[in-house]
Amino acid sequence: MRKKVSIIGAGNVGASLAQLIAHSGLADVMLFDIAESMPQGKALDISEACPLWGSSSFVRGTNDYQDTECSDVIVITAGFPRRPGMSRDDLLYANAEVVRESASRVVGVSPNAVIIVVTNPMDVMTQLAWQASGFPTRRVIGMGGVLDSARLRTFVAWELGVSPADVEAMVLGGHGDEMLPLPRFTTVKGVPIATLLDSTRVEGLIGRARNGGAEIVGLLKHGSACYAPAAAAFQMAKAVLLDEKRLLPCSAYLDGQYGIIGLYAGVPVIIGKEGVERIVELKLDEAEMKALEKSARSIKALIEKLEGR
Ligand code: APR
Repeated sequence: MRKKVSIIGAGNVGASLAQLIAHSGLADVMLFDIAESMPQGKALDISEACPLWGSSSFVRGTNDYQDTECSDVIVITAGFPRRPGMSRDDLLYANAEVVRESASRVVGVSPNAVIIVVTNPMDVMTQLAWQASGFPTRRVIGMGGVLDSARLRTFVAWELGVSPADVEAMVLGGHGDEMLPLPRFTTVKGVPIATLLDSTRVEGLIGRARNGGAEIVGLLKHGSACYAPAAAAFQMAKAVLLDEKRLLPCSAYLDGQYGIIGLYAGVPVIIGKEGVERIVELKLDEAEMKALEKSARSIKALIEKLEGR
């Protein structure tokens, strides 16, 4: 049967993701936005590229949630991006309304979908989307770690003059300033970077990855990163659509794992057709565990701020 991905928010990230899915031919795409006729225009443009890509995907744009019915995957990118000087957390109140509304509207017509949340501040928005959806936790996942890891992989590859495809990295914790890149789990074809680079260089690369989103916001001046976030969401959607059982760092609901209870935060998970099929518990050392707890506390603080506590 044909697969369907609905993308809520046809802005820079949403449209880039629609293009990636259509190019791959993996699924049909429904591009939803509140902006009148804009998703229809972008969908038409992408549709007209499909014959050139040899893709059989159908891409449509809509302003009606009903058209997102029977989706296998729903990706929420709706909301507002950062401007220079803003942190992801500054988007809290405006995007909370948007994500709550999107999540509660899509579930009625796609009760079996897996929801992937991209909107920032992502871990908090994923928690809200889960609450608003009423879905089991495994079917609501946040996109952060895949992107943060890709950024670290890029900088390590540049530093060593190797292919980014040969670099693996693991970034845990919240998709924010307190994210936790793990050098111990960052390797070039299995070789730990600590054996290839001195610790000052490693710290420098980690700092750049941590600041990766802000670096792009600063360069663009208007808008924020879209191509890498879309590629990261695509990797997650593909893992669900093809039941790939990929091990990816994603924001998942923790119910005691890593000592964290009742909170979405970035951890390694196995992604397949059911969404988060397993949370992988790495043996963290004391410093890593402390940093993860700190990151989780900052996610929790934002949730409490939103709830007026
Ligand atoms: N319902 C649906 N779409 C909405 C709503 C809503 N209630 N409110 C806003 N939108 C749409 C806007 O019309 C816009 O087209 O969301 C889209 C957001 O697109 P951009 O402004 O281009 O933002 P983008 O760069 O795609 O980032 C979206 O992803 O990475 C995160 O921080 C980023 O939170 C931001 C989100």
